[in-house]
Amino acid sequence: MSTKTPWWIRVPVLFFLIFGLMEYFVDSGDKPAIIEYPITQFFMLLVLMILIAIELILGSIENIMFQTLSEESKERYLAAKNQKFKWTWAKNLMKRLTRTKPIEREEEIIMDHNYDGIRELDNVLPPWWVYLFYATIVFSVVYLVRFHVIGEYTQAEEYEQEVAAAQKAIEEYKRTAKDLVDASTVEYLSDPADLAAGEKIFAANCVVCHMADGGGGIGPNLTDEYWILGGGIKNVFSTISEGGRAGKGMVAWKQNFKPAEIAQVSSYVISLGGTTPANPKAPEGEIWVDPDTPDEPEQTELETPPAEQVSDSTEVTMN
Ligand code: HEC
Repeated sequence: MSTKTPWWIRVPVLFFLIFGLMEYFVDSGDKPAIIEYPITQFFMLLVLMILIAIELILGSIENIMFQTLSEESKERYLAAKNQKFKWTWAKNLMKRLTRTKPIEREEEIIMDHNYDGIRELDNVLPPWWVYLFYATIVFSVVYLVRFHVIGEYTQAEEYEQEVAAAQKAIEEYKRTAKDLVDASTVEYLSDPADLAAGEKIFAANCVVCHMADGGGGIGPNLTDEYWILGGGIKNVFSTISEGGRAGKGMVAWKQNFKPAEIAQVSSYVISLGGTTPANPKAPEGEIWVDPDTPDEPEQTELETPPAEQVSDSTEVTMN
């Protein structure tokens, strides 16, 4: 066999090479393929066995061929084979990168001054260091031309670009991770698909108490501006997920629905606002004004219902 690499280097190197290639090509998400797909463990075991089998076969071929050699060539062959594996290339590379004088030849480079027995060697600059220095010079020239002569982009532009890219990534993430919403981050979903999904959930779970048009029954009217537990997408989300006041009949729906679904049905509830149900239940609770976008005072005044109703509902809220 011509190769001098011993099997105990050859087999592991090939094994990990194949392992690396497999991990590279098998798309397994965040987890390594070897964990994600147990079949790959079997595959790697197979690879290992095949590698060992190849080594064994090569070994026996070598053996057979050896028998065919003449005595003289047998000896030569054995001599070559028994040469220990040496890291010749690594040693050569090291020598070329450092150019150190071996200790026996230090006499050649010793300088002739002598301070109380302390003497100095005139070593050459180590080539690895010199190459690094040249590399910095090349780098600086390229840099100078790109950013001070041509002016490809400024730091500020680079920053803007990265922020924009990050923003995009966040948006992408939010789209794929809709279930991360909670009452503090939820936003009104205006997408018809989301509203349709919300309507479906509403029709299947909520109409018994709130009526199909949200007019109210056992539960309060969801179409008016009056809210017992607070209006707006965030409060509605929180009511639906955590439930109403104890004993009133509005349970916490977070066991039944994923956060994304609660956001959909909440948006659907909000979208019912301002519609006219067939049989509206009298307002309960208080007019809810979004603290983030305060309405103009006249508008709220215009829609204030008769005084008794307001005081009634205040009582409800108090208990
Ligand atoms: C068993 C009857 C019942 C069912 C079913 C029910 N609710 Fe309610 N809902 C109520 C009651 C009763 C209240 C009032 C709770 C309170 O006073 O604390 C309420 C309150 C609410 C409120 C707050 C209203 C306000 O004025 O603050 C929202 C929003 C709401 N429900 C949405 C839903 C949604 C969405 C569903 C379906 C997933 C649903 N409800 C299913 C009975 C029900």
